[in-house]
Amino acid sequence: MAKLWGGRFGKESSSLLDRFNASIGFDQQLWKYDIEGSKIHAKMLLSIGVLDDKEYAAIISGLERIASQIEAGAFAFKISDEDIHMSIEAALTDLIGEAGKKLHTARSRNDQVALDFRMYVLEHNQIIRGKILCLMETILEIARLHTETIMPGMTHLQHAQPINFGFHLVAWCANFKRDVERLSASYERNNFLPLGVGAMAGTPYGNDREMMAKALGFQAPTLNAMDTVSERDFALDLLYDIAMLLMHISRVAEELVLWSSYEFKFITLSDSYSTGSSIMPQKKNPDVPELLRGKSGRTFGNLMALLSVMKGLPLAYNKDTQEDKEGVFDSVNTALISLDILQAVLSTMHIHPENMLKMAKIGHLTATDLADFLVRKHKLPFREAHHLTGKIVAFAEEKGIDISELEEEDIFKVASLEMAGVKDVLDLKASMNARDSFGGTSSNQTAQQIAILSKWLEKTRQLEGCKKLEGCEIG
Ligand code: ARG
Repeated sequence: MAKLWGGRFGKESSSLLDRFNASIGFDQQLWKYDIEGSKIHAKMLLSIGVLDDKEYAAIISGLERIASQIEAGAFAFKISDEDIHMSIEAALTDLIGEAGKKLHTARSRNDQVALDFRMYVLEHNQIIRGKILCLMETILEIARLHTETIMPGMTHLQHAQPINFGFHLVAWCANFKRDVERLSASYERNNFLPLGVGAMAGTPYGNDREMMAKALGFQAPTLNAMDTVSERDFALDLLYDIAMLLMHISRVAEELVLWSSYEFKFITLSDSYSTGSSIMPQKKNPDVPELLRGKSGRTFGNLMALLSVMKGLPLAYNKDTQEDKEGVFDSVNTALISLDILQAVLSTMHIHPENMLKMAKIGHLTATDLADFLVRKHKLPFREAHHLTGKIVAFAEEKGIDISELEEEDIFKVASLEMAGVKDVLDLKASMNARDSFGGTSSNQTAQQIAILSKWLEKTRQLEGCKKLEGCEIG
């Protein structure tokens, strides 16, 4: 089969080369952007006098017919056409004849692929951001119901201080907010048009790149032709943003795994999002959070893979960069389905506040509050108060209860100090609500944090970049 670039070749290329060299197996996903870019390129060629009106009209209608064929699954992608750019160009010439052969004037596949891939990356940057916002909305909805639900806050995975469940959920959201902001920054940094720079040095046709940039919604054309055809920073930015997102998701997932165990029993995952064991009939496994935890690995790998491809490449275009796409497609698809299913798992799980409270009563979480009380009430040096509190903790241990359950008289007996008001201090809820400065865990502060995040969500939704992104529904 003769190649579009076959003029100088005496022999047909081997089928082994075709298999090794072709990207059509995966870059066919870029067809929509390729056609959109070709339409604008044709318009630009018309405006600079390379195409006449008739040729332009034929090209546009030909491209539209190809788009409908691809959409209907009636387009044959052939490995001998090598990539999406040549597949569409060859099909166009088959359809409309001579005019089709003029489309590649003042264009190279190097700027074409840089355009198509960048359009894919930018569009999916927006879609992912929209899905993170939906996830955050779901988490905040749960958080609003649980600003008074006491649970043990942990450091080193050991009981530390009483917090509320809503506060914990807000901490998750703080991560996801940064993910959205990171993606927005990447979008702004990369929203420049690659098309029109030709193979590597510009073209002698006077390409109107400003017009094309505007028509395709880019901020402006890219600055330098060599850089444009060789850089893949826009793809690496997305890979990094997704790796960070999945790292955050993996931490949430780990907590879901822990919390759904018998040892915690803070939550029960819905049957619809749990799996069974093929041998142990009694089991209900948290496969979804486990997979979410595991999937972060491949997104880190995709980032490292493209960094390794790009390392040491000389300017300008090199075929190595054809290796840029599959990892990005994989990371994007991983992010999209992970966000959907995490949202589904969270909105369908059952929360057990009674178990959270039960666990908060283990480990003397308000011991620090008692020491602070002794310092304030009896002007004890903190070290002494610490020691005395230790004795009271030991007394509670002996009785087999938590210090929050001790009576005032019992504490008086151990400490030989007047203890009026101590019950308020030992109380889990009072301890939580005492942490009432900005960013703290009191119900009041948690509600404020939720309000701030909700406002931010609302504002971010309205921003240009996220407008198209509706659809918070769970399938
Ligand atoms: N399939 C190629 C890629 O993905 C398109 C650009 C090819 N350019 C070239 N000069 N061979 O990078």
